[in-house]
Amino acid sequence: MPTKSYCEKPFTHIHSHARGQYKLCCHASVHPKLEKYTIRTARPFEFFLSDEMEEIRNDMLEGKAIPGCEYCYQIEESGMKSPRLTNRKFSGVEPHSVGVQVRIFGSTCNLSCYMCFPFNSSTKNKELKNIDTDIFVKYDSEFYQIDDESMAVSVQDVLDNIELIDFITIIGGEPFVMSPHWEFLDRIPKEMRKKISLRYQTNLTKLHHKKWHLLDYVNDFKSIKLFVSVDHFKEKLAWIRYPIDVNQFENNLMEYHKYIESMHMCIGLLNVHDVPQIVDYYKNNFGLPLELKNIVQQPPELSIKNLADKQPVIDMFTELNDVPDVIFHELNKPRDEVEYQKFVDYVRLLDQKRGTSANKTFGWEIY
Ligand SMILES: C[S@@+](CC[C@H](N)C(=O)[O-])C[C@H]1O[C@@H](n2cnc3c(N)ncnc32)[C@H](O)[C@@H]1O
Ligand code: SF4
Repeated sequence: MPTKSYCEKPFTHIHSHARGQYKLCCHASVHPKLEKYTIRTARPFEFFLSDEMEEIRNDMLEGKAIPGCEYCYQIEESGMKSPRLTNRKFSGVEPHSVGVQVRIFGSTCNLSCYMCFPFNSSTKNKELKNIDTDIFVKYDSEFYQIDDESMAVSVQDVLDNIELIDFITIIGGEPFVMSPHWEFLDRIPKEMRKKISLRYQTNLTKLHHKKWHLLDYVNDFKSIKLFVSVDHFKEKLAWIRYPIDVNQFENNLMEYHKYIESMHMCIGLLNVHDVPQIVDYYKNNFGLPLELKNIVQQPPELSIKNLADKQPVIDMFTELNDVPDVIFHELNKPRDEVEYQKFVDYVRLLDQKRGTSANKTFGWEIY
C-alpha cells in the first residue's frame, strides 16, 4: 500500500468549493493544474476523469508530494495525524464507488453563524453588508452564485453518471432550504435511489421546504444520514448560530434522532472554553456524541490560536478523549494581537446590529 502521499479522496470523491472551484478535498488548496476546473468551466465527472486528476492520482500512488495538500503535510511534519492519515482507506487504483460533494445548489441559508463565510450563507452575506469589518472578504452577491446554466449542466452530468455514484453529500448553504437540491432529488430515477446514500451537513432547523419533506424520501434511498452542526447549547448557541430557534433545533434532534449520523462542533474563540460541557449536554440530554473534528482556522481572527492564555485550554483538551491533533496544532500557532482585536470589534459590531450582548451571554468581558 502506497503511504507517502496517498489519500483516498482523489480516488473516491468529487469536491467543489462554494465559489465553484474544484479541489481534491475540503482541506486542500487548489492544485495549480486544477485551477482551470470550476463548475463554470467543467462538468463534475469531466473534472474527476480529467488527465490532470489521473496524473495526480498516479503521483500519489508513486508517493510524490502533491501541491495543494500542504495542510495535511504541515500537520504531519509537526508529528501529528492529518485528515489524510486519519480518514485514509486504500480504495484501489481506479476511481469507483464515487462520492459526490459538489456545491452547485447555491448558498441559501436561514442562519448567519458568526464564524461562517458569506459565500456559504446568503443570510450571512446580507448581514455583513452592514458590518464594518475586513475579517471576511466581501464581494457582491453575484460572486457567490453559481449561475443557473452551470448548475443545470452540473446536475445533468451527475445524473448522467448516477450509476457510478454511491454517496451524495449535500452541504450548502443550508441543504433543506435550497429548492434546487430538492429538484435534483426528484430527478434521480427511482430504481437508482436504492443504491445511493444521501449525506447532509445541516443546521437541523428545517427538514421540509415548500412541497418537499425529508421523510418522503427516506424509504427511497439506501440511507439518509444527517451530520448535524452545533456549536453550543441554549443562549450561547443562539448567539453563535444567530438567529437559530433553539427549541425547534432541540425538537428536531429528538424527532430525527435515528437519521443523525454524527454531531460536530466548529471550535473557535467563543466556544472553546466550554467544550466539555457542550459534549456532556448533548450526550446526557439527547444520547448524541459530539465530534470535535472541526476548528475555525479561517478567518484567522476567530481562531483559538489567538487565545490570551492557552495553557488551561491545552490542559482541558489533554484530559478529553479523541481530540484530533489539528486542535493542538492550531493552539501551537503564534498568537496575533491585531487579529484578536479584530475579533473583539467584530463581536461588538454584531451585538450592535442584532441588539444582543455577547459579554452577558458568554459571561466574560469580550469588549
Ligand atoms: C458552511 S456549513 C454548511 C452546512 C450547514 N449549513 C451547516 O451549518 O452544517 C458547513 C460546516 O462548516 C462549518 N463552518 C462554518 N464556518 C466555518 C469556519 N469559519 N471554519 C470552519 N468551519 C466552518 C459549519 O459549522 C458546518 O459544520
Ligand atoms: S447554518 Fe451553516 S451555512 Fe448557514 S450560516 Fe451557519 S454554518 Fe453557515
